[in-house]
This record gives sequence, structure tokens and C-alpha cells, in this order.
Amino acid sequence: MQVKGFAKKILLWYKNYGRKNLPWQRNKTLYRVWISEVMLQQTSVSTVVPYFNRFVMRFPDVKALSISSLDDILYLWTGLGYYLRARNLYKSAQVIVSEHDGIFPISLKEVLALPGIGRSTAGAILSLTLGISLPILDGNVKRILTRYFAISGWPGLPEIEKKLWSISTAITPFSNTGEYNQAMMDLGSLVCTKFNPKCLVCPIHMGCNAHIHASWMEYPEKKPRVMRSSQKIWFLLIQKGEKIWMQQRPLHGIWGGLFCFPQYDCELELRLSIKQYVLSDCKSYQMDLIRHTFSHLYLDITPVVVKVSSTSEINHYGVGLWYNLLNPPVIGLSAPIARLLNILRYST
Ligand code: ADE
Repeated sequence: MQVKGFAKKILLWYKNYGRKNLPWQRNKTLYRVWISEVMLQQTSVSTVVPYFNRFVMRFPDVKALSISSLDDILYLWTGLGYYLRARNLYKSAQVIVSEHDGIFPISLKEVLALPGIGRSTAGAILSLTLGISLPILDGNVKRILTRYFAISGWPGLPEIEKKLWSISTAITPFSNTGEYNQAMMDLGSLVCTKFNPKCLVCPIHMGCNAHIHASWMEYPEKKPRVMRSSQKIWFLLIQKGEKIWMQQRPLHGIWGGLFCFPQYDCELELRLSIKQYVLSDCKSYQMDLIRHTFSHLYLDITPVVVKVSSTSEINHYGVGLWYNLLNPPVIGLSAPIARLLNILRYST
């Protein structure tokens, strides 16, 4: 392994080309870096920036976050995906207030105990904000290390991940750890990219096995392919003028805590429900089918709109709210729901 001078080259590159002016790098606090790192899990910097700015404007500190409602948080998260992250932020804020007097903890053990924070995110938060010497291993770092050291095997496998953690730990410098970790993430997203990496401008290309053997495309190895299955569901969109009936989903399961239209597994169930709620005389029409892709599943959604003349017609339809298309309430929505509401907004 050629590791001598690795960190030095990375740090020099960072000085010249690294990111130093992202919103969470200004007015740097544990709270702001925590929010940014959670948002950056599986999401690119350019997508995160506007979400981050809106979020910290509305919730400037842990206290503000802890006394908000989950709906307020999910509202600001709408479109960012992986909503479990938002629910975990909310839970963590309660823990920080009840167990740490509202002050974000600085010990690795306590940070790791917060919901939704794994070893890499904890290392990033503490090293980027306080310079504490802790290694990280996010997707960018995995890509750089698997290429540099020609490590075969899918990095999600426990034995490969273990190997990568021990390499990351061994090459992370004791000083300037924050800059080094930021540099590795920047190098991964700007130079050592998934496709067409820019090896000739990479500061460590001379020692990189994948560069030397022209084999960057072999690393990191892909996850053994799982076939995505597909599932059909039906949405019932009960519409009264500019208002649509919505219900909050249970906290657990997909789209937990988000607002959704009444949902059915088959068309018959939906038709029965229309009958049951005495909506059969109302005009209904089917919208175009939409496909939502999850990592493991295609969800094929058939939306059926029923237009009612009075909101009291569905009084017995359980707990929910009338979503006003022209004056939207502050609630969390999943991407396909937001998409359907937008279609209705511009066709109503
Ligand atoms: N991905 C995860 N954390 C990041 C950060 N701080 N900067 C850039 N990309 C990241």
C-alpha cells in the first residue's frame, strides 16, 4: 500500500480546489453541520443547498427544532426524499433537549446514540466542526479508497466495509482532520466521480491502482443486482373545488407521517369505498398512471378523482384534512403526492 504522503497531497489539493464556502461552512456550528450532513446522506450538494437554507432559517437551533411539529419539518423536507431522516432529526432534537440541555453533544458515543447518525456522519460532524480526529467512510470516500487500493467486492458487504474502515482510519491524519475529510468528500464528488473520473487532475493519481491499471470502472463493485418488483396501488382523490381530501399516514412504513390520498390495493376496493361513502353519484375520472421508483420497488399508481359538491359528503371518512390547492397547508408530502397536487393545481 502506498500511503506515505497521501493525506499531505489531499490537503494541498483542498487548499487550492476544495469547497470552503458552502452555507454550512459559514457560521459553522455543530447544529448546522449536523443538519447539512443528514441532508447530504444520499443527496448531492446542489440539491441540498436551498433545502438547508430554508431549514435553518425556519429552525435556527436545536431548541427551535425540538418545539416544532413533525409536520413543519416534513413540509420543509418535501421533495428531498428518505423522510426517515427528517423524523430522526426531530427525535434527536428531543433527545438533545432532554439529555444534553439542548446542546449538541461532542463525544462520539453520545453523537452515535442519536437516532439516524451512523459512524461516518458522526465522524463528519465532529471533525468538520471541531477538528476532532475521526475517520469517515461515506460513498465518496469508499469510491476513492476502492479505486486507490483496488479493493474488490461490494462495499456494502460487512467484510469489505470493515476493511475500508480500517484503511480510512489508518490514512486519516491526526491534525487538520476536518479539512482532510472535507477534501475527500470534495475529491470524490468533483474529481473521482462515478463516471469519467478526472484522473489527470487528481492529486493522488500516481499511486492509484485503478489509474495505473486503467480500471476505474471496476470500482467500487456494484451491489449484487436485486430485481425491482412492481406493485399497483390506487389513490382516491376526493375533490371539492380547490380542496382535496387527505389523510396522514401512520408513522411507520413508507411515507410515515406524510399526508396522502386514501390508498387501495385494487380497483374493486376503491370502487367499494366510493360506494360506501355515498360518492357513487359523483363524477369521477381516472388520471394518467404515475410510476414512483423506490430502491427495491416500482409503485404504479392509478389516481381516480371524484368531484363532490359539498365537503360534508365525506364526513365519515376518518381523520384527515381538506388540502387547499391555492392555499397549501404546512404538511409533509411525498414526491408523487406533490406531483399529483401540482397537476390538479394547474388543471382546476
Ligand atoms: N457529502 C456528505 N457530506 C458532505 C460534505 N460536507 N461536503 C460535500 N459532500 C458531502
